[in-house]
Amino acid sequence: MGLHMNSSELKKRFIEIYGGSEEGIRMFSSPGRVNLIGEHTDYNGGYVFPAALTMSSTVIARPRNDRMMNLIATDLGIQVRGSLDTLEEYKALKWGNYQYGVADELQKAGYKLVGCDLLYHDTVPLGAGLSSSAAIEVATAITLLTLGNTALGLKQPIDMVEMALISQKAENNYVGVNCGIMDQFASAMGKADHAIFLNCRDLSFHHVPLNLKGYKIVIANTNKKRGLADSKYNERRSQCEEAFAILKQFIPQATCLGEISMDEFNKYKHEIKDEIIRNRAEHVIVEDDRVLKSVEALNNDNIELFGRYMIASHGSLRDLYEVTGAELDTLVEEALRIEGVAGSRMTGAGFGGCTVSIVREEAVDTFVEKVGQGYAEKTGIEPSFYISEVGDGGREITK
Ligand code: GLA
Repeated sequence: MGLHMNSSELKKRFIEIYGGSEEGIRMFSSPGRVNLIGEHTDYNGGYVFPAALTMSSTVIARPRNDRMMNLIATDLGIQVRGSLDTLEEYKALKWGNYQYGVADELQKAGYKLVGCDLLYHDTVPLGAGLSSSAAIEVATAITLLTLGNTALGLKQPIDMVEMALISQKAENNYVGVNCGIMDQFASAMGKADHAIFLNCRDLSFHHVPLNLKGYKIVIANTNKKRGLADSKYNERRSQCEEAFAILKQFIPQATCLGEISMDEFNKYKHEIKDEIIRNRAEHVIVEDDRVLKSVEALNNDNIELFGRYMIASHGSLRDLYEVTGAELDTLVEEALRIEGVAGSRMTGAGFGGCTVSIVREEAVDTFVEKVGQGYAEKTGIEPSFYISEVGDGGREITK
């Protein structure tokens, strides 16, 4: 994550790298997200409740006359060059694979693209569970499609839900992470000062105003590298599928775990003989119900109750889903010792990454100081804190 650069600095940098003048340069941006509640429910057809951040991926872009798609990031020394005609070749790139993956999925879906020079400015911390990858993917999708439309004189529709789905496909098929839709959807559809209540089964959603009444959303980063996270993530997914296959024998009308009610689950859970598999399913089903109750609490201005659901969510992710680990647990424990904290939980996939806490405005400084101290003493790692506002979703930036 580099220092924040403004629009004119970014354009200047773009010209230093790629030459030419300001003419034809356009800028696009899409944010990272923090999930407030509803974890590991998206790929089970359940509910999630994320909010877009103001930390984002910004792309400075200009079309080319050929089919080259060139990439560079403000905080990386290397330039990556690729062709829109040989996109299969770039899957193994450490940086650039999200971008080429999106181009590949767009073309496979029939969209017409044009070559381009792109400069990325990413302010979402990488690998921290705040969807830096979804931010890059969605920003890339709207960039490529807009440039294609202008350069080729086309009117291909830029439907933001479709852009989220294309971005998810890039991550599933091209990058090889079997993620759900939450991150890309939140990045595409975010709205300032609102969270998104999304039903991942049919993608119906609405924006819920975040009237936090004197509370702030504080994100704390464990700064722990997420080793093996992708394989553990995929393992949780298959465990959920296993649980669902058993329950479906008794609830044949259900199409996913998200469609099974608490009552149905309690009636048939003994049929899942393996305790680990049963626990995974129990987390998903109770967490799904917690999302509904949390949104209701927020609508009733009951932040304290909302916070209690967050705490319960973390406990379930720790004990039943087993995706927290010592660092995330320590951050949450330290957070809950501070007066003025309504709730705290891990956010995103887990296995490291970040926590999200709802903290009274006047307690934020103490929170950062004390949680930082306590966490560093217990783990030997310095955490980072972000008091990010809730921002808008993917869009072109015109000023
Ligand atoms: C990651 C995935 C999402 C979701 C969360 C867990 O962020 O990309 O699709 O599954 O983990 O809730």
